[in-house]
Amino acid sequence: MIKINNVSMHYPGTGEPALEEMSIELNPGEFLFLVGPSGAGKSTVIKLLFRELLPTKGQIYFEDKDIAAYKKDEILQHRRRIGMVFQDYKLIKQKTVFENVAFALEVLGHSPKEIQKKVPEALQKVGLSHKEKAFPRELSGGELQRVGIARAIVKNPDLILADEPTGNLDRDNALQLMELFEKINREGTTVVIATHAWDLVDRMQKRVVALAGGKLERDEKGGYDHE
Ligand SMILES: Nc1ncnc2c1ncn2[C@@H]1O[C@H](COP(=O)(O)OP(=O)(O)OP(=O)(O)O)[C@@H](O)[C@H]1O
Ligand SMILES: [Mg+2]
Repeated sequence: MIKINNVSMHYPGTGEPALEEMSIELNPGEFLFLVGPSGAGKSTVIKLLFRELLPTKGQIYFEDKDIAAYKKDEILQHRRRIGMVFQDYKLIKQKTVFENVAFALEVLGHSPKEIQKKVPEALQKVGLSHKEKAFPRELSGGELQRVGIARAIVKNPDLILADEPTGNLDRDNALQLMELFEKINREGTTVVIATHAWDLVDRMQKRVVALAGGKLERDEKGGYDHE
């Protein structure tokens, strides 16, 4: 599904590259944790996959197409297929839970009828049907992030990209969130999560790609071996 081929990312005006000759392949339906210390390049990889950034060297292929060569409409198409989840949720304060999730479909031009059908389905998946009419200020951190996930999955994406999605949550909420990602993954969506949450990564026993100083350090199936 995705092939990162010898990718380097050098932000203009900086010394060391943020990412150096990184290569990984990701199959459809995989669940991948991207780990590494602060500054390792995790967010850079997420942004490259969303095509928010272009690599300074190497290629990123999405279903065998180099995403750097996309035309404008292909970039939009690409982003449509990706659900993004952020550490700070990025919900709209003045909109209710329902409206926040609906907005993700409105911007894609879905009809009101589709929206009325799909939003409750997404909210049900994340266990928030009863909070449809609540505003973000009335929700807990765990609930806010579940709205963030509902907004990501409502457009039925092929890929979920999450950058530190549990960064603002306590351990119990973080674990529930990870289990929700796992459920979404089991239903067929490919999931990539950048995280610092080592204990959760250990617990989930998924593929782990570790970066350090912009370099691929390890790529391990089924959890991380701390030896
Ligand atoms: N827009 C930018 N301009 C210049 N340098 C940047 C930019 N974004 C990131 N960097 C640098 O690139 C390197 C990798 O950053 P990145 O944000 O990908 O790390 P990270 O692994 O996500 O870290 P964290 O765990 O703190 O979120 C760092 O050295 C960072 O300072
Ligand atoms: Mg980051």
